[in-house]
Amino acid sequence: MTVDHSCAPVLEALVAYRREGRLSFTPPGHKQARGADPAVREVLGDAVFLGDVLATGGLDDRLTRDRVLQRAQELMADAVHADHTFFSTCGSSLSVKAAMLAVAGPHEKLLIGRDAHKSVVAGLILSGIEPVWVEPRWDAERHLAHPPSAEEFERAFTEHPDAKGALITSPTPYGASADLRAVAEVCHRRSAPLIVDEAWGAHLPFHPDLPSWAMDAGADICVTSIHKMGSGLEQGSVFHLRGDLVPPELLGMRADLLGTTSPSALIFAGLDGWRRQMALRGREIMGGALDLVAEVRSAVEEIDGMHVNDRDDFCGPGLAHGFDPLPVVIDLDGLGVSGYQAADWLREHRGIVAHLTDHRRIGAQVTHGDDRETTGELLSALKDLARAAPDLDAAPRVEVPSPSELRMPQVMLPRDAFFGRAEAVPLDRAAGRVSAEMITPYPPGIPAVLPGERLTEPVLRYLRSGLEAGMFLPDPSDPSLDTVRVVAEDDG
Ligand SMILES: Cc1ncc(COP(=O)(O)O)c(C=O)c1O
Repeated sequence: MTVDHSCAPVLEALVAYRREGRLSFTPPGHKQARGADPAVREVLGDAVFLGDVLATGGLDDRLTRDRVLQRAQELMADAVHADHTFFSTCGSSLSVKAAMLAVAGPHEKLLIGRDAHKSVVAGLILSGIEPVWVEPRWDAERHLAHPPSAEEFERAFTEHPDAKGALITSPTPYGASADLRAVAEVCHRRSAPLIVDEAWGAHLPFHPDLPSWAMDAGADICVTSIHKMGSGLEQGSVFHLRGDLVPPELLGMRADLLGTTSPSALIFAGLDGWRRQMALRGREIMGGALDLVAEVRSAVEEIDGMHVNDRDDFCGPGLAHGFDPLPVVIDLDGLGVSGYQAADWLREHRGIVAHLTDHRRIGAQVTHGDDRETTGELLSALKDLARAAPDLDAAPRVEVPSPSELRMPQVMLPRDAFFGRAEAVPLDRAAGRVSAEMITPYPPGIPAVLPGERLTEPVLRYLRSGLEAGMFLPDPSDPSLDTVRVVAEDDG
């Protein structure tokens, strides 16, 4: 069957809604902008309100007889070689939980790369799934985690043959990718499904020079944020399904537990439009982005004190399998400033907003949305930063633990530790206690501390020194980290 990718069912339904002058006596209450505060209309523009219509009963009729959303999802599935696609308007934070719930249930085991995003940990807390942590590949020199290898998953399955499946994050926010084909093979030898958190990989299916993407590598479920590397609106995410290890109706049912009953047609439209754009012109568009980012990378490398992490830094024996060049990760060690200082300086002095920041790096995400004008601004700002760096305060020292010191034993289920009796203890008395909360440097959003882990001095020192150096921690109960929430003594 040939599929017509020039259609965009959601966008077409929105056009029809306006053309036919439909008058709704349903939510949303702004009634096509008429009721919205003029000052809000001024800022947001009427297009936002005009596209904001009820999905079921607005975009489509009350029984969804036009299959508007279904048709858009089928087109997306075709574009990425999936059997089924589900749209989500609650980000990959929802999608990844739906995927986990479709593979394992309370007290069942799931193998998970420890470099997982905090939404995966939230999924563990809500579901009661027992994580079996799989070690990422650590670059001890650069203090960076790359996705775990297939051998690590093999070992974990051998030790936990009752595990229901596996979850891996690939690519990482730094652009390192896993050997997904090999990991899928390890899973499928046991008929266990593989979930890939491909939140950072919306663009991967559309150019052969990008790392292979989950559906083509044989994964069973793949979660993608279309708003991160694609043109979707914020919160626009999809999850794809392939093969027969997870029934589509089960995945749909589990996702239904988490989703909203009022999904945003605007977000659906963004997903639908991205698929059409990529299905029709993806190779050309992504090819342009790849050429542009290659120029950016060479130009940044020329700046004194900056080093762009490239394939040679990330890939090789014991490191990552593949590499996406679009996240431009810049090591500032030679400049003597931290990523936090650099990001603040770029925003304040040059109006440039950097993406990743850590104790020694900043990341600038280049996408198909950039051109020589935007990257020219970036490069000139980075040159100015290099000139300004000697006058900035010396980078505060962050006490980054070695890879082995970073890992703390998981002694309780995340759910039990999170919901059990807890108390706040001063940070300097927290070592040895069991955490009842997540503590996550953001970005990239990989929790340094999970509920149920027994806290250690090196990790606590890392977080305290990181906070003092400018690290952003959005989730601890005490944002100053004077205290940490731990499981009550007699429970831990
Ligand atoms: C690896 C990974 N997975 C999942 C998510 C959650 O995605 P979203 O922001 O779309 O909810 C993120 C967000 O940064 C992420 O980095």
